[in-house]
Amino acid sequence: MCLHRLIQIFLLLVTVEGYTQNVNIDSIVSAKVEKMTIDEKISMIGGYKGIYLRGFEKFGIPEIKMSDGPMGIKNNGKATAFPASIAMAATWNPELIQQVGKVIGDEAKSKKIGILLAPGVNIYRVPHNGRNFEYYGEDPYLSSSTVVSFVKGVQGEGVIATVKHFAANNEDYDRHRVSSNIDTRTLYEIYFPPFKAAIQEGGALAVMTSYNPVNGVHAPESSYLINDVLKKEWGFKGFVMSDWISLYTTNAVNAGLDLEMPNPDFMNSKNIIPLINNGVVTESTINDKVFRIIKSCYSTGLYNNATHDTIVDWGKHDQISIDVAREGMVLLKNDNSILPIQSKKIKKVALIGLYVFNTPHSGGGAARVEPYKKVDLFNAILNEAGKKVKIETLLTDSLKIDTFIKNESPDLNEKIASYDLVIICTGFNERSEGEGHDRPFQLPAEENKLIEKVSGINGNTAVIVLSGSGIEMPWINKVKALLYAWFPGQAGSVAAAEILFGKVNPSGKLPISIEKLWKNNAAYETYDTSHAILNAKPLFSLYGEEHMVFNMPYKEGIFTGYRHYDRYQIQPQFEFGFGLSYSNFTISDMKLSKELIKGDDRLIVSVKVKNSSDRKGKETVQLYIHDIESSLIRPVKELKAFKKVELNAGEEKVVELEISKKELSFYNPDLKKWVCEDGKFEALIGNSSRNITCRKEFNYQN
Ligand code: BGC
Repeated sequence: MCLHRLIQIFLLLVTVEGYTQNVNIDSIVSAKVEKMTIDEKISMIGGYKGIYLRGFEKFGIPEIKMSDGPMGIKNNGKATAFPASIAMAATWNPELIQQVGKVIGDEAKSKKIGILLAPGVNIYRVPHNGRNFEYYGEDPYLSSSTVVSFVKGVQGEGVIATVKHFAANNEDYDRHRVSSNIDTRTLYEIYFPPFKAAIQEGGALAVMTSYNPVNGVHAPESSYLINDVLKKEWGFKGFVMSDWISLYTTNAVNAGLDLEMPNPDFMNSKNIIPLINNGVVTESTINDKVFRIIKSCYSTGLYNNATHDTIVDWGKHDQISIDVAREGMVLLKNDNSILPIQSKKIKKVALIGLYVFNTPHSGGGAARVEPYKKVDLFNAILNEAGKKVKIETLLTDSLKIDTFIKNESPDLNEKIASYDLVIICTGFNERSEGEGHDRPFQLPAEENKLIEKVSGINGNTAVIVLSGSGIEMPWINKVKALLYAWFPGQAGSVAAAEILFGKVNPSGKLPISIEKLWKNNAAYETYDTSHAILNAKPLFSLYGEEHMVFNMPYKEGIFTGYRHYDRYQIQPQFEFGFGLSYSNFTISDMKLSKELIKGDDRLIVSVKVKNSSDRKGKETVQLYIHDIESSLIRPVKELKAFKKVELNAGEEKVVELEISKKELSFYNPDLKKWVCEDGKFEALIGNSSRNITCRKEFNYQN
């Protein structure tokens, strides 16, 4: 028998085996469901003890605990606090994010948690959204790549990942009432893709609906979102849970929601039995929900492993959290190569600002993890500086900062001027940026004044920003260096210090565009900035209240983020995909494997990447597609592939990226499907969305 035939038989056996296994699981799960009374079944579709799935020992179904979230395990004792999700996206390194998912899954398992309430994949639309730090930025492709890896990592450990918040949680102000009103094409091209990828490519077994209504309907009660899109169109076989206290009626039952969290306030026997008796709800609808829940847990092994202990390697998890910070921090400015700090030139450094000591590791809300250890910027920088560079602190509390910005003090000015470098640590913290509220695009006024004044006194000023979103930078031309550190997790300060002193060569790239002015943003006309209040008290629930729904029209449609800046030729402060390195890279010699792609052919785009510096570093090759001939208007360019590569000093590598029909298609709302039209396209490659160094045309034919 030839090798080809042997392989065919092997593949057939594997498929048959998978099929048989599935059939077996289905019949085991169905048998369990059949044995349950209607009350028992209904009790499984509402949360239990606030954070559990109900269990029934007599059916061999243990209760299953859940826990947040996207940056680590919350409320369950010792846990590693990882950098914000937006920092994970900024690594452009899906393999690393898979490791994060894996170790969070491992910590979950060690705490007997079977369902992780993460990852969050809502798109960054406005810088104000208090939850942007929990998500993966503005681009559907980058978000999709990141989420698929995270989900695979978590679920590989036998823990269910819950993709949230379906759909369009793009601001958090008054989130129970503000409806995200979005046209179909925009939903499909911008806001849905990361969810779809998490399910179809990552295999995510749970989805959590959003607080915000979508097109006027509360998400957990939206048959369109759950039945039509998730279950029918995408073939989602797992279960859909509500966000905490977000139902308003029992409509959720027929809309496809499988689990109401955290308590069965609406989905309980008292409400549902009469609906069954009246023929409004069928028992098979309830059976399907219970089946989905049990099957997801069963196939993940949760019913076998619920008592399974693992020993966590805390040191390793801490290192992975630092690795993400190392690769996710973005160096946005570095005039005169002031960084990395060279002890020959820079002997005395002052650290200034509120976050030198109280370095925020996370934004606030459900995603905030209590770290088991924490390193602040002062200690990390002091440690990295060693003996050759003297580190001092100045103006690290609000009282002193306030006095300094309001008064003239020649002595203090002289002192500030005497340092070879001043580093200001600024941004937001878990109180000013987080879940349940939005925050301003502008830093607190005192922070801006502090940077203005210090940089006016000392020409060698660097800024470290801690935040989960973009900020306005009125002082940008006065500072020499800017490191965007996001919320860096428990030990991210170590990574910042290593970047400052050159032990780590920065390689993060922005997963968002940072606009110069708020008025440049695509949502400027529709988003009301009076909602973005500094230190606003989070609004967590409006449970049981009658309430109106307010409309938030997404007038910009698909033109959000760089798609908007490209369309109107607006120069952002820093563009999507941008980030500096201490090395110099050139990307050149683009080659296409063919000039005409037909049907499902794959196109291989290759370029040469050269590190022409004397320092090892990492560069991210980004491939954008431009559709030259199209019946519907399309963005000037869209990210469709990328690869991060490491190059030694002087080294050159060929990088290959692959695309096919899927990456060339757009969603046609009239035809209700993705289409790829015949005609001309252009492949654009660069190391940011604006620094495009190679471009070549090709044709597509169906
Ligand atoms: C958040 C969810 C979270 C849940 C449980 C809600 O407030 O929106 O993301 O998973 O709380 O903590």
